[in-house]
Amino acid sequence: MMADPLLSAEPARGSTHYVIEGGQPLRGDVHLSGAKNAVTKQLVASMLTDDVCTVYNAPGALGDVIITEQVMRALGTDISWPAAHAIRAQTRAISNSVVPMELGRKNRLAVLAVGPLLHRVGHAVIPVPGGDRIGPRPIDFHLAGLEQMGAHIELKDGLYDFHTDGQGLRGTTIELPYPSVMATETLLIAATLARGITVIQNAAIEPEIMDLIKFLQKMGAIVEQRVDRKIVIEGVPRLHGAEHRAMYDRNEAVSLAVAAYLTHGDIRLHGADQGTLLTFLNTLYRVGLDFGVEDDSIRFFGGDQPPRSIALETDVHPGFMTDWQQPFTVLLTQAHGMSVIHETVFADRFGYTLELNKMCADTGLYPKCLGELECRFRERDFLHSCVVRGPTPLSAADLTMPDIRAGASYLLAALCATGTSRIWGIEHIERGYDDLFSKLRSLGAKIERVEDTPAAL
Ligand code: EPU
Repeated sequence: MMADPLLSAEPARGSTHYVIEGGQPLRGDVHLSGAKNAVTKQLVASMLTDDVCTVYNAPGALGDVIITEQVMRALGTDISWPAAHAIRAQTRAISNSVVPMELGRKNRLAVLAVGPLLHRVGHAVIPVPGGDRIGPRPIDFHLAGLEQMGAHIELKDGLYDFHTDGQGLRGTTIELPYPSVMATETLLIAATLARGITVIQNAAIEPEIMDLIKFLQKMGAIVEQRVDRKIVIEGVPRLHGAEHRAMYDRNEAVSLAVAAYLTHGDIRLHGADQGTLLTFLNTLYRVGLDFGVEDDSIRFFGGDQPPRSIALETDVHPGFMTDWQQPFTVLLTQAHGMSVIHETVFADRFGYTLELNKMCADTGLYPKCLGELECRFRERDFLHSCVVRGPTPLSAADLTMPDIRAGASYLLAALCATGTSRIWGIEHIERGYDDLFSKLRSLGAKIERVEDTPAAL
């Protein structure tokens, strides 16, 4: 069987890589990009209408946005970029209700298109989704919710086939077993045009979902957020076009902020939003690091003293985000003492620490829950707790990125390591970050993007 390049443990060397000389303090100002995990969802939601929708603050140089564009074009959407960060989408008609296998497996976004396709043509086919190597990533919550809304689903030859009867999707009450981000989004998008009222209980409430709700409301949807993770959607017969400025990328903000501390730098991130970063900022205080919140930016500085160690647990919003775990773990390799990180969102999101150990980090993985949060991985054999002993000066290494956030952690480790690191598998980082390479260079990082040639290998 051919290896799936996205899921393969060892992405092929012999592709373009970064060469990073560590130890250069990052200094200066940089503008954050729009959030990939907001913009991509809004684009798919635009398929609910045949009118024009425009999303501003869209990251242009980002693989996941390009994949989303390709999927939507394959289904009949006209997409253009009227300006550098504005994307315009219009789906006058659905010309095809089958998401092509090779596109749909590249990331996990195709499932969001099921609602729009069912509403518009009563039929949808998507491949079983691909995605990062961070533990099992089923879509059973999405499927169960759509079934409750009246979709009929069959799994055949790696494809999910959905159809509705003449009545279309209907509103219902859905209780998610866990507040999954994309299951909430799939059901939210599908519910906007369903007959009657849909209640999503135990819904995720991440800021990217709130941004999607703002976009949907501008399209004419009626969506209420109630207390206790309850989202109530009153179906309407038709949605119309909308214009929306997407939120800034809080994951990019965290990665760059940590890079500043690790290199003893001083950077100002324009667009960084205190409201979406509250838990991260609190955690910085807890480890003894300083920052300054300004009108439209946040300055991260003062990493000259090593941080303090900490016990940390990832959680759904408003907890400490699982996507911040990897950069923060690198930071904790430079903290005094023993830190403990308990990952409660994904089962297998610490694989990258083995590579950090090759750079002289001192980390160990445990299947036990080293924390207090109720965790679905208790009594199971997942290495989802990590102990980090520091500070350990890092030394350069040759690494291969396995996924987006682990890839970012390798970049950060290389930026503070002694010597020159080479990092392959950079398609992961380029799928999830908007030109991070240029941003790091503009802040003074010594990083090169090298095209491999057979002679260089
Ligand atoms: N889960 C199920 N069944 C489902 C759905 C989820 O068991 O049907 C489980 C997952 O296996 C996981 C947990 O629920 O253990 C949470 O997963 P969730 O569904 O919330 O994750 P997601 O929606 O697939 C999004 C982001 C991730 C981010 C998580 C958590 C996008 C495209 N992806 O994934 O971002 O880590 O929420 O906040 O929005 C990234 O950007 O690098 C990334 C992985």
